[in-house]
Amino acid sequence: MTPNDIRSAAAEILRENDRGAYTVPTKGLYPFQWNWDSCLTALGLAQLDEDRAWTEIETLFAHQWPDGMVPHIVFHVYDDGYFPGPDVWATGRPTPTSGITQPPVAGFALRRLFETATDGEAAKRRARALLGAVDRWHAWFYEMRDPAGEGLVAIIHPWESGRDNSIDWDDAFERVPRDGIAPYTRRDTQHADPDHRPTNAQYDRYLWLVERFRSLGWDNTKLHDASPFQVVDPGFNAILIRSCADLAWLADWLDEPEIARVNRERASRGLAALESLWSAGHGQYLCRDRRTGALIDSPSVGGLLPAFAPISPARAKAIATRIQALAASARYLVPSHDPADPRFSAKRYWRGPTWLIVNYMIADGLTRAGEWETANAIRSASIDLITTGGFAEYYDPHTGEPCGGGRFTWTAAMVLEFLKSAEPQP
Ligand code: DGY
Repeated sequence: MTPNDIRSAAAEILRENDRGAYTVPTKGLYPFQWNWDSCLTALGLAQLDEDRAWTEIETLFAHQWPDGMVPHIVFHVYDDGYFPGPDVWATGRPTPTSGITQPPVAGFALRRLFETATDGEAAKRRARALLGAVDRWHAWFYEMRDPAGEGLVAIIHPWESGRDNSIDWDDAFERVPRDGIAPYTRRDTQHADPDHRPTNAQYDRYLWLVERFRSLGWDNTKLHDASPFQVVDPGFNAILIRSCADLAWLADWLDEPEIARVNRERASRGLAALESLWSAGHGQYLCRDRRTGALIDSPSVGGLLPAFAPISPARAKAIATRIQALAASARYLVPSHDPADPRFSAKRYWRGPTWLIVNYMIADGLTRAGEWETANAIRSASIDLITTGGFAEYYDPHTGEPCGGGRFTWTAAMVLEFLKSAEPQP
C-alpha cells in the first residue's frame, strides 16, 4: 500500500464510523461514543474536516457530569449489541452514560487541534468554549482520585485505564469479589474472537465493581475509598500530566492566566510524584497498588507511556533504550507487555498486543525529547502494521496479525497522524 492508499482507506473508515456529531470506535463491538477514542479520533478528523473534529470533542463534553467527570461511554442511541448497556450503569444522566472515566487525553487533543487549525478565529472560539470544561475535568481528577494529595491519581476500575485486562491489574483485581452479581450475557465475544478478549472471570469482576459503585449512587466523593481496586497507573497519570501542561499552554494563548497557573502546577507536581513509580530494575515506570502501597512487578506499556509527558531527558532516553530492547523480541513495536514475561499473551487485548494509539503517544513524546531513532522505529512499525493487518483494533506484535475489532476508527486516525509528518529528524 502506498501512503496515499493508506490515507484514503483511513478516511473511508472515519467516514463509515461517523454518526454525525460523534464517531463509534467500530461497528458492532463498540456502538456508542467512547471518551479517549473520540479525543484521539478528532486528530485524524481534523485532516478531513476541521469543523467536524471540534464537534467530536464538543459532543463528548456536552455530557460532562455536574461534578466535572467526563464519562467513558456516552450511550447516544439504543443498541443492545453491547454489554453492559445503560440499564446496568443506571447513572441517571439525561443522555445515559457510564459512571467511570477514561484516560484524559482531551487537553492534549485540544492543543493539537488549535495548533494545526487553518481557521484560527474558529479555533480560538471553540477552544475557549472547551477550556473551562477540560480544566474542571482535571480538577475533578485531583479532588476525587487523589484524596490524600500525593500528586498522582488512581483508577478505580480497569476500564478507566483503557488497558482493560492488562497484567498490571491481576493481583489487585484478585481482591474484587465475583459473587453476588446479576446474571449477564457478554456481547463482546459475539463480535470478536473470545481468545482476543478478557476472560469471564475478569468480566465478573468488572461487573462487581460497576454494581458496587451503582449501589453508592455514583457519588464520586465515596467511590475512591469504597473501591477494593485502586491503582496508580504511570501511563494514565502521564496522559493527565501532558494534558494539564498542554491546557496550560492553550490557556496562556487564550489569556486565561488562572487556568494556565493551576494546570502548570498540577503538571509539575505530577511529574515530581511520577518519580516514585520509576523502577531502576526494569528501566521503566511501574504501577502502584494504592491499597498496599507496593509497586506492581509488571513491565507493561503503561510504564513506557510516561514518554508522552514532559519527563526528564534522562528518563526519556531510558525509555527509548527499553523500547529498543523490546524490539529484539517483538517485531512490531510497541508490545503492550514485555514478551519475556511468562504472563505475556500475543493476541489477548492488553496482555501483549500492539496498539497504534499507544504507539502514537509514545512516539510523539520521544520525538519531543529528541529520541528520533526510537520514535522512527515506532512510526515505521505502525505503518507496517497497517500494510500487514489492515486497520485493526490491535495486533499480534510478533506476526502483525489483526486482533479484536476491525475497521477501527482510532487506528485510522493515528495512521493519518503518522503519515501527516515526515519522519522525525534531528
Ligand atoms: C469494552 O467494553 O471492552 C470497553 O473497553 C470498556 O470500555
